[in-house]
Amino acid sequence: MENRHLLKLNDYTKEEIMEILELGEQLKYENKHGIAHDHLLRGKTLGMIFEKSSTRTRVSFEVGMYQLGGSALFLSSHDLQLGRGEPIKDTARVLSRYVDGIMIRTFSQKDVQDLAEYSKVPVINGLTDEEHPCQVLADLLTIKEFKRKFDGLKVAFIGDGNNMANSLMVGCLKVGMSIGIATPNGYEPPEHVITAVKAVEEASKGTVTFAKNPEEVVKDADVVITDVWTSMGQEEETIKRKEAFKGYQVNSDLMAIAKKDAMVLHCLPAHRGEEITEDILELHAKEIFEEAENRLHAQKAVMVKLMQKN
Ligand code: CP
Ligand code: NVA
Repeated sequence: MENRHLLKLNDYTKEEIMEILELGEQLKYENKHGIAHDHLLRGKTLGMIFEKSSTRTRVSFEVGMYQLGGSALFLSSHDLQLGRGEPIKDTARVLSRYVDGIMIRTFSQKDVQDLAEYSKVPVINGLTDEEHPCQVLADLLTIKEFKRKFDGLKVAFIGDGNNMANSLMVGCLKVGMSIGIATPNGYEPPEHVITAVKAVEEASKGTVTFAKNPEEVVKDADVVITDVWTSMGQEEETIKRKEAFKGYQVNSDLMAIAKKDAMVLHCLPAHRGEEITEDILELHAKEIFEEAENRLHAQKAVMVKLMQKN
């Protein structure tokens, strides 16, 4: 694989994404069948910088490193000198002399790029305001597992045009699916992301469409995906967002117009009664929690691909 880092999915070709998914499937199979693969990253260490909360990302990276024979360090920005103003470029140059890979969850995509520019070791984006590539790799793995194909499938995303929507558009198009995004006015994906996505669309078999009305994109969808209305770091906008996103709930009325066998995915944590109803979440718990598990397998594949050559 050409890439040294995973900063955003758009840096990866279809072939590279498929390679990661195939390795993820193999590692999942080995896990389920008690076949150890702790030789793959034996003796390697992943540093994990967190400037935001996490359950899935933290635990799946940490357990993943352990299963691959290495170890992981949880580095909260509250404790790091980064939190007291040490520049990201200095943090990168110091950490990359100790560890073999760095995972970072932060606010700005630029910080992740700067970290990668100054790091001697691979950098993995564990979520920014703009991208969530590891989550989308897990989502693709889950769709592949349940639907056994990508070509021709129609994905609908209902919600905010931020990290999940941005990475999903690229991920879905690259592997041959079509995607429709329904957002309220003022919550569309950023212009520069849409421009980049249009270029991906041109080279892909699928299409990307933008709508205000959720029904427009959910009609005959094979996969319906949503995410919280208020993301981490936007807490002070909660009341305004609850108002703006009314009508953007994945519920039984909306699901009635999707394909009969449509899957529902949610990166979690979910806010029941807001972006998704309790009954729809529980009805689709099988795929939603498989999706959460698949974070582990997809990320192990990413770490093997990026950190083995180091
Ligand atoms: N989906 C996801 O990234 O979960 P966490 O915030 O718990 O890591
Ligand atoms: N959009 C959400 C995703 C959480 C995994 C957030 O950024 O908080």
